[in-house]
Amino acid sequence: MLAACIVTIALFSQQTNTSLYKEKYRPQFHFSPAKNWTNDPNGLVYFNGEYHLFYQYNPFGNGWGHMSWGHAVSKDLVSWKELPVAIPEEGNTMIFSGSCVVDKYNTAGFAVKPGQVAMVAVYTGHNNLDSIKKDSTLQNQQIAYSLDNGRTWTKYKDNPVLDLKRKDFRDPKVFWYEPGKKWIMTVVFPEEHIVQLYTSKNLKQWSFLSDFGPAGDINGIWECSDLLKVPVKGKPGRYKWVLLNSVSTTMQYFIGEFDGKIFRSENANGKILRPDYGADFYAGITYNNLPAGALPVLIGWANNWSYAGNLPVFPWKGIMSMPRTLQIQEINGVQMLVQNPVPAIKKLRRAQTQLSNIQFTGTKKLDAESQQVEIEMTMDPGREDSCGIRLAAGNGKYLSIGYAEYTQELYVDRSNSGDTGFHPAFKNWLQSKVGIMENNNKIKLHIFLDKSIAEIFADYGQVVLTEQLFPDEKNKGIILFSKNGKTVFDSIKLWPLKSAWVRK
Ligand code: FRU
Repeated sequence: MLAACIVTIALFSQQTNTSLYKEKYRPQFHFSPAKNWTNDPNGLVYFNGEYHLFYQYNPFGNGWGHMSWGHAVSKDLVSWKELPVAIPEEGNTMIFSGSCVVDKYNTAGFAVKPGQVAMVAVYTGHNNLDSIKKDSTLQNQQIAYSLDNGRTWTKYKDNPVLDLKRKDFRDPKVFWYEPGKKWIMTVVFPEEHIVQLYTSKNLKQWSFLSDFGPAGDINGIWECSDLLKVPVKGKPGRYKWVLLNSVSTTMQYFIGEFDGKIFRSENANGKILRPDYGADFYAGITYNNLPAGALPVLIGWANNWSYAGNLPVFPWKGIMSMPRTLQIQEINGVQMLVQNPVPAIKKLRRAQTQLSNIQFTGTKKLDAESQQVEIEMTMDPGREDSCGIRLAAGNGKYLSIGYAEYTQELYVDRSNSGDTGFHPAFKNWLQSKVGIMENNNKIKLHIFLDKSIAEIFADYGQVVLTEQLFPDEKNKGIILFSKNGKTVFDSIKLWPLKSAWVRK
């Protein structure tokens, strides 16, 4: 009997090990925790050769709750290794979103031995003051530190470090401002659509600098802001400041200047700029402490609060976007953010398929088949044309990514892509579209499909769309379409991609 039990247990653990990360819909080069719920990326920081990814995490289940900071590390931003929970919920205080800094000058005094450098996490403590009354909550800013490369954390004994006794006051993003030799924090008043700026010399005492907002998109609560310096493409030594923030289910950004106290947006009047025009990109923040000269790197939660709780996936729930580099580009006198997948993703490429100069009416199925694929395509749409590519195609189902010449819009349509019925709200998010510009009459798309997530970079990265989809695993077809045959597909390059999971 005992022997039978041992055999059964051995078989079971073998099975769970080999099936981990291979479950239906599990992305292979987008990070997701092995199991349980995740939302926002938190505390993105590079330190001692590791990229840290902390994230909002429920250690106990597959839905939002018990918010703590989960933790993963990577050497290249592509393969991730999940580590134990870094900062757990404690008592009545959940650990909400925030950021992480490397305190090189030991401003907070947490490093005690010579040569030690502290990592300091700055996050929102979400305090439940009265477990009976549901809305009796208080949010304030707290810190914790680690002296062992983020493996173990100590909460600061005099927390909170910034407390306005407000119900909603959250998501501190902190960075070192070298010209003033001081820390700067951005943190939001969600309902008021305000990003507040604070400064500190030691991460423990904070003083108010200025308010930004309301501005741009105020159609939803503001969350997760980030202020950073972004290099201008092709102009070495030139930078602009960018303020990013989340708005309920989407994000926006402002380009402008920051003088150490006030951020001033230079966005043209009324123009709302978004880092992502798809349904599934939220709470994006950038890395702190990257090596000198590296481009800023942004990661978002590839999800949407409207239906995130009901995604048809198990045992994890929630994934991160691919990390994306950021630059500013001036196009026709307008400054924009341009994003590209981090170059290291190229390591995952398998053998390339290439096609060039194709013209046809209707559809053309490619020989390559995969739900784990990268595609670069350039097409020259004819007038009154609509053209593009269908992914995860099979049995009449597909995700459609197309350009409509008559409206000059790029669109992603997931209405016929697979399971769309897991939450009623998903039906309101079946199509995303955004105006894009032809470049010498050409449209260039850089597309990644990873089982249940597609990221589309268009216009050389000025426009990005992130969309989840839940296709039948058998539907791996890739099909070009051209509505009236005037499109010339100049070039299609396609690479099936390897899995990026580091086995534990
Ligand atoms: C954004 C957010 C943050 C908050 C966290 C809680 O998605 O609502 O404002 O800190 O999630 O999990």
